[in-house]
Amino acid sequence: MISNQEKKADIVILISGGGSNLQSFIDACNRGVLDGRIAAVISNKANVKGLERAKIANIPSFIVDHNTFPTRDAFDLELATVVNMFKPDLVILAGFMRILTASFVNQYVGRMINIHPSVLPAYPGLNTHQRAIDAKDTIAGATVHFVTPELDGGPPVLQATVPIEKQDTAELLGARVLNVEHKIYPIVAQWFCQGRLTLRHNKVFHDGVEIDEKGLLFKDK
Ligand code: GRF
Repeated sequence: MISNQEKKADIVILISGGGSNLQSFIDACNRGVLDGRIAAVISNKANVKGLERAKIANIPSFIVDHNTFPTRDAFDLELATVVNMFKPDLVILAGFMRILTASFVNQYVGRMINIHPSVLPAYPGLNTHQRAIDAKDTIAGATVHFVTPELDGGPPVLQATVPIEKQDTAELLGARVLNVEHKIYPIVAQWFCQGRLTLRHNKVFHDGVEIDEKGLLFKDK
C-alpha cells in the first residue's frame, strides 16, 4: 500500500523482449488510469523492442545482461541493486524470462507481480499455448499473480480467458491471449497503486476481502 496518498507509486518494470505489456502500462499512465510512475525499465537482454519503447516514453532503462554473470545469484544480486536504486513500491515482471532466486524474490513478496500466459494452475512454465492446443483444451488465457519463490506458483489475482479456435496455432492463440494480457495487467497494477490489493500470509485481499485461490475472473464489457 502506498503510505502517502498524494504520492504516485514508483514502479520498476522488468522485461526481456518485445515489451507489449510494458507498453500497456505506459499507455495506462498516459491515459491517467494508472496512479503510478514508471521509474525504470530493466532488461536482461540488449537490443529488445521493450527498451525502445522505454526510450520513446522517456523512461530510464538499464540492461543487466545475465550472460555477463558467473552465477544466477550474482545476476540476481546486481538486478536487485539496480531495482533498489528506485525504491519501488511495485515491481512488475512483464515478459521477464529469467527464473529468479528465492533470495531475490523474498525481498519483494507482496509488491512484485507477474503475468503468465495460461489460466494457472494449468501450464506453468514455457510453451503454454502449444501445450493447451495439444491437450485439445477449448479455453486458454492469462493470469496476473503475486510472485513467490515457486515458479508461476504465487497466488493469482486476476485471470482472463479466451476461446481456443479449431484452426489455432500457438502464434494465433498467443496473440489472442496477449490482447487480454494488455487489459488485465494494468487493472491489477492500478488496484495495487490504489492500495486496494494486499498479500497476507500468501492470500490475496481485494478491497479487504480475501479472494478465491484461482483469483478474480476478468469480464470484458
Ligand atoms: C507475455 O505473453 C507474457 O505473458 C509472457 O511473455 C510475454 C511477454 O510479452 N510472460 P511482451 O514482452 O510483454 O510483449
